[in-house]
Amino acid sequence: MVEGPEAIAKFYDEWAVDYDAAHSDWRATVVAHGTLLAEALAGRGIVPRARVLDCTCGIGTQAIGLALQGYVVSASDLSAREIDRARAESATFGVELDLTVADLLHLDSTLPASWRGFDAVISANSLTHLGDDDTLFAAFTQMAGRCRPGGVVAVTNRDYEAVADRRPSSTPVQQTALDGIRRASFQLWDWAVDGHSYRMEDVLLSRSEEDPDGVWTVRSRATTLHAWRPADIDRAAFAAGLGDAEWTQHGHQPIATFIVP
Ligand SMILES: C[S@@+](CC[C@H](N)C(=O)[O-])C[C@H]1O[C@@H](n2cnc3c(N)ncnc32)[C@H](O)[C@@H]1O
Repeated sequence: MVEGPEAIAKFYDEWAVDYDAAHSDWRATVVAHGTLLAEALAGRGIVPRARVLDCTCGIGTQAIGLALQGYVVSASDLSAREIDRARAESATFGVELDLTVADLLHLDSTLPASWRGFDAVISANSLTHLGDDDTLFAAFTQMAGRCRPGGVVAVTNRDYEAVADRRPSSTPVQQTALDGIRRASFQLWDWAVDGHSYRMEDVLLSRSEEDPDGVWTVRSRATTLHAWRPADIDRAAFAAGLGDAEWTQHGHQPIATFIVP
């Protein structure tokens, strides 16, 4: 059972404050993701100064990265706290984003009416929150609806086909330090028997750097994620009328781009 929008918004409202700890260097990730997405978009003729909508922007990982590459970026997410943090983070990078709270599955009714005709609409690392084929189809329909004809819908998703046999039980530990606090972050993955979804528990350990023998403070929170394979994503995008799929392999998060008719 994948959670509904209220539960997802609450999950990320609570995570917004330390979401960066999931990356060994979140600011470097912003630059790296922006570079990779810009390459994928430019390969489809969407070059800097084009208008891009990131409709699951979180704290701004890709939206800020694309703005750094010269794209004009609008960005939305279900979580108001993440939008607040994306606004604050964009200022620290010296870029401007248009930001709002909106539901990917209802962009037609939750985005400002003027947010339309984008050259590209993206969603990175978020389709796992969609629990069935109909919802995945709805997401692509909504993204295409905010894009201009001939524009690009781009999504990134972990390559679950590649890990289908192994069903990893955790992610590698990411270690960071912030304001004198040492942080260690990882996820525990408990797979459903059918291998199509897993309970993801995000765990963060923190301790003062001045007290290496001290007790760790532990916080954890869990949600259910859907392990969409590339073929599932293609099927939903094509059903939504998108065409000409291209996949580019970048580490564990391939980027898929589709053309809007
Ligand atoms: C794993 S985070 C990825 C955020 C960002 N793209 C990144 O890579 O850092 C997944 C994001 O999807 C958002 N999300 C999930 N379901 C959504 C929906 N229906 N509408 C808008 N955002 C949604 C969550 O709030 C969260 O910010």
